[in-house]
Amino acid sequence: MKTVSGIAPLVVVVCVLMYPPFAQSDELSRAAMLSYTCAGCHGTDGVSPGSIPSIACKSPETIETALKEYRDGKRFSTVMGRHVKGYTDQEIQLIAGFFGTYCKEPDRTKK
Ligand code: HEC
Repeated sequence: MKTVSGIAPLVVVVCVLMYPPFAQSDELSRAAMLSYTCAGCHGTDGVSPGSIPSIACKSPETIETALKEYRDGKRFSTVMGRHVKGYTDQEIQLIAGFFGTYCKEPDRTKK
């Protein structure tokens, strides 16, 4: 009996944390899921091993602007325009925020 009552408060806390309004991870995992499609070309964590530009350490604003310009045909691209065509503004913001968190020493001067 003693162990059960000892665990009960913990169970309540865990249940409360998992209750959707308190679970902060929903949007994060959606951002992560959307962003993993970029890793194939831009490298894990946005650091590209090849000739494709790295996108790590770019500010979220820079990435968001680039993606919208590719999508709207305002910036020349070979593949990006096609890749981002299906994303909504909100999804682009999630992706930009996701890669924007990947830099240990943010360099926001580079465009
Ligand atoms: C099929 C490969 C491929 C995929 C997938 C891809 N990219 Fe790209 N990306 C490129 C290439 C190639 C360029 C250079 C521009 C061009 O020719 O399209 C580029 C350019 C960019 C740039 C501009 C970089 C700079 O320095 O100017 C950004 C930002 C970017 N991609 C973000 C993303 C994001 C975010 C995703 C995921 C939603 C993504 N890319 C998915 C291949 C890819």
